[in-house]
Amino acid sequence: MGMLGSQKMDYQDSALSAPSGAPADPALAMETGQRYRNPTEVQMSQLVLPSHTNHRGELSIGQLLKWIDTAACLSAERHAGCPCVTASVDDIYFEHTIRQIQIMPPWQQHGKNDVCVGQVVNIKAKVNRAFNSSMEVGIQVSHEDLSTGKQWNVCKAYATFVAQGKATSKMKLKPLAPQTEEEKMEYGIAAERRRMRVAHTETLKNLLTNSTIQTERENGECSTVVPAEKTRVESVELVLPPHANHQGNTFGGQIMAWMENVATIAASRLCHAHPTLKTIEMFHFRGPSQVGDRLLLKAIVNNAFKNSMEVGVCVEAYQQEMEVNRRHINSAFMTFVVLDQEGQPITLPVVKPEAGDGERRYREASARKKIRLDRKYIISCEQTKVPLSVPWDQSNKVYLSYNNVFALKTLVAKTNWVLATETDKVRMYMLEEDKYLSFRIEMTLCIDALQAFSLLSDLRQRHEWDHYYASAELVQQVDEDDMIYHVVSQAVSQEKKPQDFVILASRRKPCSEGDPYVIAFRSVTLPTCPPNPDYTRGETMCSGFCIWQETTELTKVSYYNQAAPGYLTYVTTNIAGLSSDFYVTFKACERFLQKNKEDIAVGLQNL
Ligand code: COA
Ligand code: ADP
Repeated sequence: MGMLGSQKMDYQDSALSAPSGAPADPALAMETGQRYRNPTEVQMSQLVLPSHTNHRGELSIGQLLKWIDTAACLSAERHAGCPCVTASVDDIYFEHTIRQIQIMPPWQQHGKNDVCVGQVVNIKAKVNRAFNSSMEVGIQVSHEDLSTGKQWNVCKAYATFVAQGKATSKMKLKPLAPQTEEEKMEYGIAAERRRMRVAHTETLKNLLTNSTIQTERENGECSTVVPAEKTRVESVELVLPPHANHQGNTFGGQIMAWMENVATIAASRLCHAHPTLKTIEMFHFRGPSQVGDRLLLKAIVNNAFKNSMEVGVCVEAYQQEMEVNRRHINSAFMTFVVLDQEGQPITLPVVKPEAGDGERRYREASARKKIRLDRKYIISCEQTKVPLSVPWDQSNKVYLSYNNVFALKTLVAKTNWVLATETDKVRMYMLEEDKYLSFRIEMTLCIDALQAFSLLSDLRQRHEWDHYYASAELVQQVDEDDMIYHVVSQAVSQEKKPQDFVILASRRKPCSEGDPYVIAFRSVTLPTCPPNPDYTRGETMCSGFCIWQETTELTKVSYYNQAAPGYLTYVTTNIAGLSSDFYVTFKACERFLQKNKEDIAVGLQNL
């Protein structure tokens, strides 16, 4: 996940008014006239100096990682009020970063140091959500050209920090109160990203056991074969006080910078050219390291694809006299490309892996490449780029669920909903944005939120209240909270075939107090459920329920739908007051919930 692609954005304003989630919400303007500022926000501005650049005059990624980690750590500590350590960092993509940060092309450089003059990197970090002892920190990096005043968004990254309270017990962090639309959205989705992090190792394991991975490159595309061992690098670093925080714990960013260094050397040994780092895969710091530790870094090219290669790096720590007792600090995988003069990636040599571990890593690198692509495109959630119905498979299930919940929570967090019509306490709101028209129908019921959640998350019962549904069949139970249904709609007329849908339903219970129950729906494709000539295959982009327990008796149920073109007439007719269809349907929903709540209450007690 991490930086969801970097976006080049030109904006003239100062760093303070940069598009960093600064709220436009007038309700948050403070009485003094100052703008609202997230209390955990930390800003860092760094002038790029020659010592920060690599051999090509670009800002070194290792240096950038150190700044990112420091700013993020200070933000985490601001919330926690005690020292924090980096637990993990999500995927980071450097697609445009390096070229944007490259201050001047080499042919325009007058002297060795000119390249750095006048360039600034601005970093903003803030805590998105605190869980128990851990926090998700969102980091936004922009690049500023002081001579023109222009700024570019370079990347967005997410890291998890763990508060180090008393040595004897686990810290319980105070909850965070999100204020702006953006803060509320990040807060809601942070819980889903946490699920994804926890599932990461399992996802990789599943892919390796369940799929056939194409490992051989096509013959004839490259005649050079390089034995992997020629790229092997081993390097040692001594952790000194400047590499650590005031508690003596090594900064995660410093370790990442050392890792990037050895990985770059391994990649260069494969291609005998200067490689460009494109991605750092999500990774986890397994154990702490302190001042005085020796860190042993080992890297090798695991696999080279046509235009990109994966380098793996492993870091172990030991104390002076105990080299035998090495502690595994972390392992990370980085993707490099080699660019030609036009900036196009060149074809890389073929790697011949070493027998044993080398061959295993070669196959695993292919699996990771597939997962990386899934993650990048599915979780980026940019509706214009992600196909409406993404093929579902075991290896992308976590990301598709993330995408499903993300889309709904984003819609829920929007603040510009407008009340369109209200009939007998059933309210319909609408939201016009770009090319989408979304609507939300809301009612407050005398029911327990968990009961409503259980009843509404089973699509097989929906035909009882929604006359658009003819039937729904469970075709795949992905896990306890994610199900795939085949849904058939009622035929509208004799001439028209009914529509059918393959829908992924992802339901989530509250992660902490105050959170709603969420049930998200989106279309997917499933090989076992191909289009059928009896139906017209339909697709749904984003819809679902959000359920809030308001008091011990009352629950607010909201249904959301981001209307696809086929659905628009229905919505606009209701909004214009030409039909009371939505009211009839949701009154039927209320009766359905009331009728079944006693039965479900018994079932829930038995769980
Ligand atoms: N990604 C994100 N969060 C993770 C995680 C991962 N891969 N693994 C664990 N966590 C979170 C847990 O969810 C938990 O959060 P919560 O308290 O909010 O529920 C928290 O970390 C503690 O987890 P727990 O199971 O109690 O501890 P652990 O034994 O897994 O230890 C660390 C987690 C991070 C404290 C431990 O691995 C560590 O000390 N790592 C080194 C950290 C460090 O020093 N970093 C700097 C560079 S060396
Ligand atoms: P895995 O072997 O499962 O990939 P490790 O944590 O052992 O996991 O190693 C992570 C990566 O570090 C490996 O994929 C490899 O690229 C690199 N690596 C591990 N051991 C060595 C070594 N002895 N020499 C060079 N590189 C190594």
